[in-house]
Amino acid sequence: MLDIRIEKTKNPKPIPGPDNPLTFGTIFTDHMFIMNYQTGKGWFDPRIVEYQKIALEPSAMVFHYGQEMFEGLKAYKADDGRILLFRPDKNIERANNSNRRLCIPEIPEDLFLEAIKKLVKTDEAWIPTKPGTSLYIRPFVIATDEFLGVRPSDTYLFMIICSPVGAYYPEGLNPVKIWIEDDYVRAVKGGIGEAKTGGNYVASLAAQVKAHDEGYSQVLWLDGIERKYIEEVGAMNIFFKIDGTVVTPMLNGSILPGVTRNSCIELCKEWGLPVEERRISAEELFTAARQGRLDECWGSGTAAVISPVGHLRWMNEVIQIHDGGIGPISQKLYDTVTGIQLGRIEGPAGWSVEVK
Ligand code: COI
Repeated sequence: MLDIRIEKTKNPKPIPGPDNPLTFGTIFTDHMFIMNYQTGKGWFDPRIVEYQKIALEPSAMVFHYGQEMFEGLKAYKADDGRILLFRPDKNIERANNSNRRLCIPEIPEDLFLEAIKKLVKTDEAWIPTKPGTSLYIRPFVIATDEFLGVRPSDTYLFMIICSPVGAYYPEGLNPVKIWIEDDYVRAVKGGIGEAKTGGNYVASLAAQVKAHDEGYSQVLWLDGIERKYIEEVGAMNIFFKIDGTVVTPMLNGSILPGVTRNSCIELCKEWGLPVEERRISAEELFTAARQGRLDECWGSGTAAVISPVGHLRWMNEVIQIHDGGIGPISQKLYDTVTGIQLGRIEGPAGWSVEVK
């Protein structure tokens, strides 16, 4: 494995204190990881340096055709002082799946993990400890060839930046209101919906603006072909509890395979709850709600953790779930996932990875 060089900053920034009401993704730590790629040479010069601006030619391919991949994971400070990552292997595996789909060279898994660990260790003092906070880690790759033709780039930058964060939604653990979008679509099977890449998020903006204007936090996407089946929310996967069964849309090629989604499924199964990964239409969901059989709804994501959904709107009909409050499974999942992340609860083998 390549050696990661560390050049510490001579100008450390003030670290937000415990009274800082951290929001999501606005403050960045002192250092970043950066590594170059060139066809024929492979990945080279992995280094941790001061968090700084990067210089790119206006012709850099990422600006024109969006060849980029990103990931998101979190580091936590346990009560006993250990630094814990939550299932980083899953993010690394997904990053390389995205890379393959986007014609970006894969990143050696051991080097990827080492880069995350070394960066988090370097900026250890930035890991916030107040309940509901963590250090969000954002790895990403961009195409840097100076060229306006459409083809995969021959040069790339892989970077990792870190941000001390609070809740993703201003609502915190209070239920959010979600808008089911029946005009715009996010992704279709065979497209790039299951890759974690900026293109999927820019595709979501017009509907998100529309939903915000109507007082909703996020958009829930329907499938891009029949516009019937529920897929995911822009920043999270979605779960329902109907007639005592936990139901979530199956991974069909256009849905992001969320790490927290997978964790929710595994935990619910461990608790003996029936779990179905299958197609579920908005009509089926609203029928269940009208008949009083929809007990709970929540979203799952790295940034969002577990986010209860209190209201869903589809074609002028609004349903309220669990009286607009948080349901018991959502609460138990939130407590268990965050308990494992903070090292207070022992999770399944391999879910917690210590940074030493
Ligand atoms: C994450 O949950 O880590 C994500 O990348 C979603 C992003 C929209 C904040």
